Amino acid sequence: MSRLIYGCMGLGGGWNHEPVQGKDIAHARAALDAALEIGITRFDHADIYTHGKAEQVFGELFKAEPALRERIVLQTKCGIRFGDAHGPGRYDLSRAYIIAAVEASLARLHTDYIDVLLLHRPDPLMEPDEINEAWHTLYTAGKVRALGVSNMHAGQLRLLTAALDTSLVANQLEMSLARRDWLEAETCFNDAQGAGGLVWADTLAYCQRKQIGLQAWGALAKGWYSGGAAYDAPPVVNNTAQLVRELAHQHQVAPESIVLAWLLRHPAGIAPVIGTSHPERIRACRDAERIQLSREEWYRLYVTARGHALP
Ligand SMILES: NC(=O)c1ccc[n+]([C@@H]2O[C@H](COP(=O)([O-])OP(=O)(O)OC[C@H]3O[C@@H](n4cnc5c(N)ncnc54)[C@H](OP(=O)(O)O)[C@@H]3O)[C@@H](O)[C@H]2O)c1
Repeated sequence: MSRLIYGCMGLGGGWNHEPVQGKDIAHARAALDAALEIGITRFDHADIYTHGKAEQVFGELFKAEPALRERIVLQTKCGIRFGDAHGPGRYDLSRAYIIAAVEASLARLHTDYIDVLLLHRPDPLMEPDEINEAWHTLYTAGKVRALGVSNMHAGQLRLLTAALDTSLVANQLEMSLARRDWLEAETCFNDAQGAGGLVWADTLAYCQRKQIGLQAWGALAKGWYSGGAAYDAPPVVNNTAQLVRELAHQHQVAPESIVLAWLLRHPAGIAPVIGTSHPERIRACRDAERIQLSREEWYRLYVTARGHALP
């Protein structure tokens, strides 16, 4: 498995209910090819991405080239429901909904199995025993091979783990040079960071100890530091983008690889999920795993992005 994961949220032709078109399938193919070219083998979906169309375009790719399915590790998520005739936008990790959502994903993806199913968001009404039942049903039917979560803190992981007959393999959280509270929790947990900091610190440590793979969504920070920050971006963003460019020049790599190398350097074994659907930007991530930032480079990026000196 590659450490980098390709995030498919940008595929499928946009967040609308227009039918999938040939150009959307070609767009997905170009993104997939660029990802495979740089050694990415893990692909991250969710049932909701572009209202199901991200999975649908991947299904078209599998139909056109069935051997492709075996070459990749396919991850998808369930548990977010948009507002509909039955209720408002909500989370749903009930047994029935998980099973129905997976069946629908399998149909859209034109595949018999999902390698990793993530529970997308914590549902305050979730019953861990019911989730375990859903897991059993899907696993024994060969429809899901491994289970993980997303956006969950250590307390929720403990609760689930106690009820599950399987180990959680992943927790996908927002982590990047722009979203650094997980890190502030480690370096400044007894400053004025509040309870949120402690929850983060516990979550990271719990995942590391239990070998729950940490995945970082939003890893490229929407190109803030690699695409040329907007002219009106705060100085701290422009300063960080400038430093990223300097380091990219020194290491002879693209800025995107520096942004990701910064996450990869952390000992928690974070796997960045990259969301650009632009083939050149995908290729620009190719050297992230090859280079290793020095401690000093890593701290320069961290301190510049946070805009305040340590300690
Ligand atoms: N678990 C969750 O709750 C959750 C939430 C959000 C996302 N995710 C997953 O994480 C993946 C990545 O998240 P993300 O899409 O928010 O993160 P990202 O990789 O930080 O951002 C990608 C988005 O920024 C745009 N962008 C503009 N300029 C860019 C540049 N220079 N470099 C990179 N991107 C640029 C991309 O557009 P172009 O395509 O035009 O480059 C794309 O829309 C998603 O695809 C999805 O799989 C998970």
